Amino acid sequence: MSTSLVKIKDKEFIIKIASATIQDRVKTLAAQINHDYEGKMPIIVGVLNGAVLFTCDLFKNLNMECELTFLRVSSYHGGLTSSGEVSRVIGLKENIEGRHVLMIEDIVDSGETAMHLFSELQKHNPASLKLATALFKPAALKHNLTPDYVGFEVENDFLVGYGLDYDGLGRNLNDIYVLKP
Ligand code: IMP
Ligand code: MG
Repeated sequence: MSTSLVKIKDKEFIIKIASATIQDRVKTLAAQINHDYEGKMPIIVGVLNGAVLFTCDLFKNLNMECELTFLRVSSYHGGLTSSGEVSRVIGLKENIEGRHVLMIEDIVDSGETAMHLFSELQKHNPASLKLATALFKPAALKHNLTPDYVGFEVENDFLVGYGLDYDGLGRNLNDIYVLKP
């Protein structure tokens, strides 16, 4: 059951993308990934915390042999706008040299996080490196990057739910909500 309005701390949010729509889109993307990576045994790299729900939903719908791991990074510091700095990267114990790597993000906003992680992963010489993101804000993009798999293109508004948080809360909402103007 979803409600059309949620309150998180001092802000109100209105429903934007319903859970059923998200799940349909995930299945479509997974079908494309199944096709593109057939026989390649990719390693799926989810970016914590935001991408955890999208990564798991996508992963459950993959039908080829594949591995799963997670990285952690942060660029927002609790507020409503990107700080523009990527504070740190933790993770990757797996050897990705010569492997087909698919990085999974919750959202590409300025693109800073994705660019930073991409260049970190590239240093390990993967056979290929692609990016899947649940959400993409083309109007906010400040880097020359095109996500390979996009769930939904959205306007440059602040969103919560489906892994995205406002000050740490709202990640567990199954629908995606937009900040009420
Ligand atoms: P970027 O580095 O500017 O592309 O920002 C990427 C990160 O900022 C995402 O992984 C999110 O954690 C966070 N972020 C960007 N836009 C939103 C939003 O609308 N709501 C919540 N978090 C966001
Ligand atoms: Mg994130």
